[in-house]
Amino acid sequence: MTAKKSSVDKSATRVQSMFGEIAPKYDLLNNLLSFGLAKQWRRRYVREVFQRLAERSNPPKKLETLDLATGTGDVIAEQLRQWTRRKLADKLGVVEFQPVGVDFVPEMLALARKKVPAVEFVEADAHNLPFDDERFDAVTNSFGLRNMVEPKKAIAEMARVCRKGGVVAILEFSPTKFPLFAPIFRFYFHRILPLIGNFVSGNKSDAYRYLPESVDAFDSPEQTLEYMRDAGLDAPTRLPMTFGTLGLFIGRKTKT
Ligand SMILES: C[S@@+](CC[C@H](N)C(=O)[O-])C[C@H]1O[C@@H](n2cnc3c(N)ncnc32)[C@H](O)[C@@H]1O
Repeated sequence: MTAKKSSVDKSATRVQSMFGEIAPKYDLLNNLLSFGLAKQWRRRYVREVFQRLAERSNPPKKLETLDLATGTGDVIAEQLRQWTRRKLADKLGVVEFQPVGVDFVPEMLALARKKVPAVEFVEADAHNLPFDDERFDAVTNSFGLRNMVEPKKAIAEMARVCRKGGVVAILEFSPTKFPLFAPIFRFYFHRILPLIGNFVSGNKSDAYRYLPESVDAFDSPEQTLEYMRDAGLDAPTRLPMTFGTLGLFIGRKTKT
């Protein structure tokens, strides 16, 4: 399988300045443009990850997770919410839970630190993580992968820092082929969303037109699964969500 050659400019400087510019309105627009679904997607994403961690036979005393492209830290906030509400310490047989977030945009990280002050957030590029091999029990990346210049390398890094028995999980949009729904969604995604997004964020770098363009230009779900297999993850699968407009890719690391 050959990777799609992206026609969209995903250079680090462009992606960083775009996300830096929209950071203050990012959460508001996320909820508005997804009709509130973003929260549900994140809930399911975190639930699926914890469920797989609960299936492990030898849980560590301390559970460590890494959220890449963490943005304003919503995935970590949701992990902490479920950790407390679902009494996961007992369910997972773990004493302590320590999430870490990574992003390469300081404006996003400033908001994440405000949202979840007790958590460590590190400014770094997902292609080159400043962590030892096999440090984390789960490594997540929601809506970050399609912005990365080398998704294969980013996935390999996710697998490298994941412990044996741990999980790697990616949430990402893909063009839907769902009959009847696809043309309606395409109209909304390409015509309406950029107008609202760019207007509300006051964004000059056209971030909300970049969103649908980057989804169209991104690798197929099959290609992402192949990258996961190449990175040594065992039997990765994709769970389609919301009429196939996005998918949850998940795989376990079974070998070191
Ligand atoms: C669409 S936001 C997703 C934020 C969050 N994960 C969420 O689900 O709302 C994409 C994030 O990926 C970050 N990002 C993109 N490329 C990156 C890279 N190479 N290294 C680290 N962060 C990156 C951006 O700075 C941005 O915060």
